[in-house]
Amino acid sequence: MSAGPRHVHIETFGCQMNEYDSELVRALLKREGFVLTADRECADVILMNTCAIRENAHTKVYTHLSDLKALKKSRPLVVGVLGCMAQNLKEELTKQEPLVDLLAGPDAYRQLPMLIQNAVHAQEQGGQAKALAVDLPEYETYDDIIPARIPGVNAWIAVMRGCDNFCSFCVVPYTRGRERSRDPQGILDEAARIAGEGFKQITLLGQNVNSYRSGDWDFARLLTAVADTPGIERVRFTSPHPKDFPPPLLEAVVFHPKICKHIHLPVQSGNDRILDMMNRTYTRREYLALVDRIRSMNPCMALTTDIIAGFCSETEAEFEDTYRLLEEVRYHSAFIFLYSERTNTIAARKYADDIPQEAKSRRVTALVDLQRRISAERNREYLGQTLQVLVEGDARKSSLQAMGKSDGNITVIWEKTDVQCGPGQMVACSIYDVSASTLYARATRPSEPSPPKMEQSCTNIVQS
Ligand code: 5AD
Ligand code: SF4
Repeated sequence: MSAGPRHVHIETFGCQMNEYDSELVRALLKREGFVLTADRECADVILMNTCAIRENAHTKVYTHLSDLKALKKSRPLVVGVLGCMAQNLKEELTKQEPLVDLLAGPDAYRQLPMLIQNAVHAQEQGGQAKALAVDLPEYETYDDIIPARIPGVNAWIAVMRGCDNFCSFCVVPYTRGRERSRDPQGILDEAARIAGEGFKQITLLGQNVNSYRSGDWDFARLLTAVADTPGIERVRFTSPHPKDFPPPLLEAVVFHPKICKHIHLPVQSGNDRILDMMNRTYTRREYLALVDRIRSMNPCMALTTDIIAGFCSETEAEFEDTYRLLEEVRYHSAFIFLYSERTNTIAARKYADDIPQEAKSRRVTALVDLQRRISAERNREYLGQTLQVLVEGDARKSSLQAMGKSDGNITVIWEKTDVQCGPGQMVACSIYDVSASTLYARATRPSEPSPPKMEQSCTNIVQS
C-alpha cells in the first residue's frame, strides 16, 4: 500500500438512502484526509455500502465481494462492508468472509476513519484485524455532516432515520434502528445551501418520511418550508407510509406549486388478512379511501406503489385481491417484489415462508404484466399534452437525445435539436408517443417556472 493519502473507492447498492449515506461517508473521509476515487483499480480501500432488504440485493453484494478476491490477492487492499448488511449479518460476514476487513452499520460511520486506519495498519504489520462498528446509537442523525454531493440536478436530504413500524417482512427496523427526526433548522439550512450550489430539485428521504416530527414541526410543515426555499424548482419525498397522511400534508402536496404531484404510496397487498399479517396497520378499504381522497383533491396526481407477491400463506384468492387492487387504483407505475424471508424479521420468526418459488414468480409476472399494460394506458393519457420537464441530461440510449422527468416523475425523451437546454433547466415538452415507461416529446420552448395556480386540477399539465 502506498504511503501518503489513502485512496478510497465506494460502491453503493440499494435505495436512495444508501446513496445519501455514501455522500455522508465521502464527507467524513475527506475531512480526515482520505482521497475518494471513482476507479477501484487504484484504490487502497474499497467500501461497499450494502442493502439487505431483499434476497437479490444480498446476493448481489456477495457476488461483488467474490469479485474482489482476485484483486485482494494481487495487492494490499482493505475491504469494508457498510450499511444494512453490515448491521444485520455481522457474524456471517466476519467469520465466513476472510476478505472483509471492516464492518460499519448505518449509524456507525463516524468511526470509519479510525476503522480504516486500524485495518491498514494491521495489514502493513502483515496481519488482519477485523474491525467492527455495528452498534446503533439511538440519537445519530449526522446533523452536522454536509454530504459530499456529486453536482447534478437532484439533491437528497435525509430528514429522519430508522423506522418503528416493524412491518413483519421488513429488516429495516433492525438494520437502521429506531425512528429519529432531524432538527428542522438544520434541514432548512441544508436546503438553502443546496439551492446555492445550483441543485434544482430536493428529495426528502426517510424510511418512513411522513412520520417526521421535531417539536411542533410535522412533515407537512417541513415539506412546505423546504419547498419555499428560493432557487429550488421541485421537491419530492420518499417513502411515506399510508398511515401518516393528515389533511395538511395532502393539501401541501396538492396545492404547493413546487411540490411534485406524485405520491409513492406503498400498499404491499390488497388483501386484509395479509395486510394484518404484514402489520401494515391499514385495511384495503382504508387504503382505497386515501386514494379516493387524494384523487378528489387532484385527479391527475401520479400514484405509484410497492407490492410484495407470495407473502407467507398468501392464497390464490388473496393474491387476486392484490391483482384487482392494481386494476382498481391504476397506478402510474409499481415496484413489484417477490417475497423473500429476511433474518430476524417478525415474519421469519412467526410465519412459514411456504409459497413455492414457482407460484411466487407466477404471481409477480402476472402483476408486472398487468402493471405494464396499465402504465402504458396511463401514459397514453398524456398524448397531445404539454408537460413541464426538468432536464436531467443525455438519454440513456442516445447522446443525440436528452431526458428529463415530468412533475409526476415519468421519464421524458426528446431530440436535442428541438431546443437548447441543459441539466437543471425546465423545458415544455409536447408528448407525441409513449411506452409503458417513457414519454416521447418535442421540446418546444424553455418554459417559465410553473405558475402557482391552485384551482387547476391537473397542476402538472401546462397548456402550450
Ligand atoms: N421481501 C420482498 N420485498 C420486500 N420489501 C421489503 N422487505 C421485503 C421482503 N422481505 C419491499 C417492500 C418495500 C420495498 C422497499 O421493498 O415492498 O416497500
Ligand atoms: Fe420497512 Fe415497514 Fe418501516 Fe417501510 S415502514 S421501512 S416497510 S418496517
